[in-house]
Amino acid sequence: MWAGTPLFPERASTMAGRVDAIYFFLLAVSIFFSLLIAGLIVYFGAKYRRRREHGVGRVVHGGSLLEIGWTLIPLFITIVCFVWGASVFFAMSRPPDDTLNIYVVGKQWMWKFQHLDGEREINELHVPVGRAVKLIMTSEDVIHDVFVPAFRVKADVLPGRYTSIWFQPTKPGRYHLFCAEYCGTRHSGMIGEVVVMDPSEYQAWLSGGAPEGSLASAGEKLFADLACNTCHRADSQGRGPVLQGLFGKTVALQSGESVVADEAYIRESILMPAAKITAGYQPIMPTFQGLVTEEQLLQLIEYVKSLHPTELGIRN
Ligand code: CUA
Repeated sequence: MWAGTPLFPERASTMAGRVDAIYFFLLAVSIFFSLLIAGLIVYFGAKYRRRREHGVGRVVHGGSLLEIGWTLIPLFITIVCFVWGASVFFAMSRPPDDTLNIYVVGKQWMWKFQHLDGEREINELHVPVGRAVKLIMTSEDVIHDVFVPAFRVKADVLPGRYTSIWFQPTKPGRYHLFCAEYCGTRHSGMIGEVVVMDPSEYQAWLSGGAPEGSLASAGEKLFADLACNTCHRADSQGRGPVLQGLFGKTVALQSGESVVADEAYIRESILMPAAKITAGYQPIMPTFQGLVTEEQLLQLIEYVKSLHPTELGIRN
């Protein structure tokens, strides 16, 4: 109904309709009660106006039916809002299992996108239509915020952390991408476009570039350049933990706690190796803080993700 209104963004993702539905419901509830309350104020103001100069109003004590009504009706409405809102929130926070992962690095003042097969883009992101896309995001400097109104997704992009959002575009086109967190002088210029393409066009676009090879292969090279492979070996004879098959697993730590090996854990282990020591290993790894950029960290993470468990843990 609002699709043609320039005030309202296009609906171009699977979540857009659900987000709009709850938005319009809340808007309708607000309008209804605003009109009801304003109307009653005017009506009662007129009806119970002072008619005689020294008139005194009649005092009314309680009205059970009225009180139960104005308690239960709003309670019911707010429960509907809560349950409905929570279901949309959960759907937005839980990406499907099979997503197309793309890394995003925000910096003053641009968006850098890194596709897994090596393709890099700045302020422009190409994705195929109909495919669930997950953005794994971090910042090189201050807090930014990715916002694509047409997809109804928005999330802070934080230095030193990975946040993620997902969306499934439903129609090809070009959609605005904004930074929605004030991040310095040229914050307003930190904009871009998401280009949603037909799958075949997307394949053609992908094969048009990527001279540097995949993200994981760049990570593999970096892994060797930084001599990580001298300690992290596939045969469990190394001085560092075996990384094959590590991603997504639960790791037992020296401290007795355990941690799931996700992007944040791998990042922390590269930058602050002493923070979480794997049980059975010594804290001998040097820090790589300042030696690897955010983008190189992503390459290393993607390399670790690509290391599947080898047969009996032996290879090389
Ligand atoms: Cu980046 Cu505002």
